[in-house]
Amino acid sequence: MIRRTLRKVCFFRTLTPGEIDQLLSISRLARYQGGDPVFMKEDIGDNFFIVKSGRIKIYTTVGGGKKKTFAFLKKGDFFGEMSLLGGKVRSASAQAVEESELIVISKKNFRALILQAPDFTLKLLYTLADRLNKCDKEIESMLFHNILGRLADAVLEMAKDKRARPVKIQVGQRDLAEYLGTTRVPVCRAISSLRRSGVIDYKRGELTVLNMDRLRSISGNSAPYPGRAPAHVHGKF
Ligand code: CMP
Repeated sequence: MIRRTLRKVCFFRTLTPGEIDQLLSISRLARYQGGDPVFMKEDIGDNFFIVKSGRIKIYTTVGGGKKKTFAFLKKGDFFGEMSLLGGKVRSASAQAVEESELIVISKKNFRALILQAPDFTLKLLYTLADRLNKCDKEIESMLFHNILGRLADAVLEMAKDKRARPVKIQVGQRDLAEYLGTTRVPVCRAISSLRRSGVIDYKRGELTVLNMDRLRSISGNSAPYPGRAPAHVHGKF
């Protein structure tokens, strides 16, 4: 089973059965229930993780209990590399959103992999570059775009790996608020506004994208400075 998961992670796809066996010998499996913490921000980093099944939330908490979700990671994604590469302590907290299984590789074996498996190292760099790129876009979106544009950005990000049409995303309003680093009220209003204009539907934690083109045009990344959404989707904020 772990073997099959490793094959699905791009950087392990090219490994020979012998190399996979070697990797299996240096990893272990850990199980988490929904809500279980994997680690907390500021913990000393000791392991690297690959998601075998389930969903992991990466988030930070700021004074007063405010939360900001950085990412939801799914099967095949990895995390926990930053503190092992230099930061020493965890830059964010990780929590299982649902029942999840993680492949765990120790710091020592992670370092050995970096030195011995160039495909692994390259994939790690690609992913870090990708995450940095996403962070840059998010900073831009937070600084220059309104809540509608930011919500559209977030929905597009969550929709990007979904093949089925229409795109359906399981996400609660609180999760969306934490993803945008805001509270529920403005997110509720933004959802209502997008619903009224027929861009999305939202029922009981399921968001359906009804008009992808309009969602893209509302998206902060494509809206002209200062990121005002088109008049037809303006709500009251
Ligand atoms: P580390 O700092 O060891 O622990 C927290 C982990 O969260 C970090 O390594 C990364 O693997 C992951 N992480 C931090 N920020 C992001 C982000 N913006 N997107 C995806 N993953 C992240």
